[in-house]
Amino acid sequence: MSDEETKLPPDRDALIRFSRFKLHGRKKGILKRGESDWLPGRLQQLQPTWDVSRDEILHRWGANPETSRLWLEIGFGNGETLTHLASHYPEDRFIGVDVFLEGISALLRRMERCNLANIALESGNIVELLATKNIVGLFDRVMINFPDPWPKKRHHKRRLIQKEFLHLLATAMRTGGILTLATDWSEYGEWMLDHLETHLSFSNVYGPRQAAPEPSFWLPTRFQQKGEAAGRPILHIAYRRI
Ligand SMILES: C[S@@+](CC[C@H](N)C(=O)[O-])C[C@H]1O[C@@H](n2cnc3c(N)ncnc32)[C@H](O)[C@@H]1O
Repeated sequence: MSDEETKLPPDRDALIRFSRFKLHGRKKGILKRGESDWLPGRLQQLQPTWDVSRDEILHRWGANPETSRLWLEIGFGNGETLTHLASHYPEDRFIGVDVFLEGISALLRRMERCNLANIALESGNIVELLATKNIVGLFDRVMINFPDPWPKKRHHKRRLIQKEFLHLLATAMRTGGILTLATDWSEYGEWMLDHLETHLSFSNVYGPRQAAPEPSFWLPTRFQQKGEAAGRPILHIAYRRI
């Protein structure tokens, strides 16, 4: 697929249909007392602006487009990795997208504790977001850590990593940008490699079908600890948007 074709995914109706699959589990969780009052307002303040270029986003956010990177974390859970990275790379800017309100509220508390102003947030389904907004060539780095594995065969269609989703992601990323994934579910790891290897807009940074080393910024999360406790090794994957 040429660069131009990935910018215009072949079947837009299929993408919209795909975006409406129930890809995620819990949406709300248990919010603490009073959180449902302040959460929507705070989320509105932290909402990214989507209809401008990457350089403009960085510029408006007080960052230098030449030296700063724009990151996207999809499914940030409780936001441990996002806050860790945002503290570690203060010159970079981060956008987190998740559907899970309890996790969003945990992230907001963490951001306040660490006094972080380099994170923007969108609450919602990433597939729907990418399929409906005109998000082109924005991200230098995209992270997807421990996406829900949906282990039963009849649920595989709910997995986030699908051909259609990769079209959307390829469009949203900058050429040369890096997509990293981590999973403790080996069969989903193989599925990710199958889908990425056959997508012409991505190339494995470490050679065809190769695993990646643990990223230097890595922070083991609850999901990693659970997987390791159950004897499931972690697979790291890194692809370049070409
Ligand atoms: C298994 S958890 C992993 C959380 C986190 N990345 C970590 O490593 O701790 C998967 C996360 O992805 C989110 N998620 C699942 N499907 C999503 C979607 N379509 N759009 C946005 N977030 C999604 C869930 O709400 C959940 O927070």
